[in-house]
Amino acid sequence: MNPLIAVIITGVAMFVAHILVILLFREKPAAPEEPAADAEAPARASAPAAIVGAATKLADRVVPRTADDASPLMGRRGWMGLAWGSFTAATAGCLAATGRFMFPNVLNEPPQQFTIGFPDEYGEGVDERWKDRFGVWVVRTPFDDYHETSGFYALLVTCTHLGCTPNWLSAESKFKCPCHGSGFRPTGINFEGPAPRPLERARIVLAEDGQIQVDKARKFQEELGQWTDPEAFLAL
Ligand code: FES
Repeated sequence: MNPLIAVIITGVAMFVAHILVILLFREKPAAPEEPAADAEAPARASAPAAIVGAATKLADRVVPRTADDASPLMGRRGWMGLAWGSFTAATAGCLAATGRFMFPNVLNEPPQQFTIGFPDEYGEGVDERWKDRFGVWVVRTPFDDYHETSGFYALLVTCTHLGCTPNWLSAESKFKCPCHGSGFRPTGINFEGPAPRPLERARIVLAEDGQIQVDKARKFQEELGQWTDPEAFLAL
């Protein structure tokens, strides 16, 4: 939620709650038994509520509310409570907004570059081991049309229609998107449904330690002629 909205909602909620509490538990003026008992009462009754301050609060502790305290809604204690309540609400709201600013939402995305083991750990075909963790399918093929040799490529698991995640249907040897039905060949080429272009491939190379390394920050698009790039395919 927007921090400003959080502050406003918090402040308004606390203000309203405070008003309700005051209205429910406010003191009722006593019956006017002795009209001339308090000589200072008229002066205090005519004082505007807005200028009642710390001195009045102190006086209120000593002098109890009387029948001729003529505040129309609530007594001085009520106004003071309201002021402090509002101040507290505003302060709490500001603190909440500050805390929200200091600890923003963090989206923990998987790393873009990672190693996925040694080539001999893979059989031919689509390997789904890294789909959930890294967002790629690793495919080992005996022959790649773009490089005319055997090896590996890494397909991104993002449908090129609206970004859903397709499923690998091994029985039908295709990737099928559950959202609008797009289908892709094991190569990543689209052949059915609304997807306008093939799946993208990621950079795939051998790391120094001999493991396969994939880098999703470098993508290759078939329709741009990028699948022929040496790093779009790991020839082995
Ligand atoms: S998002 Fe995959 S077909 Fe629409």
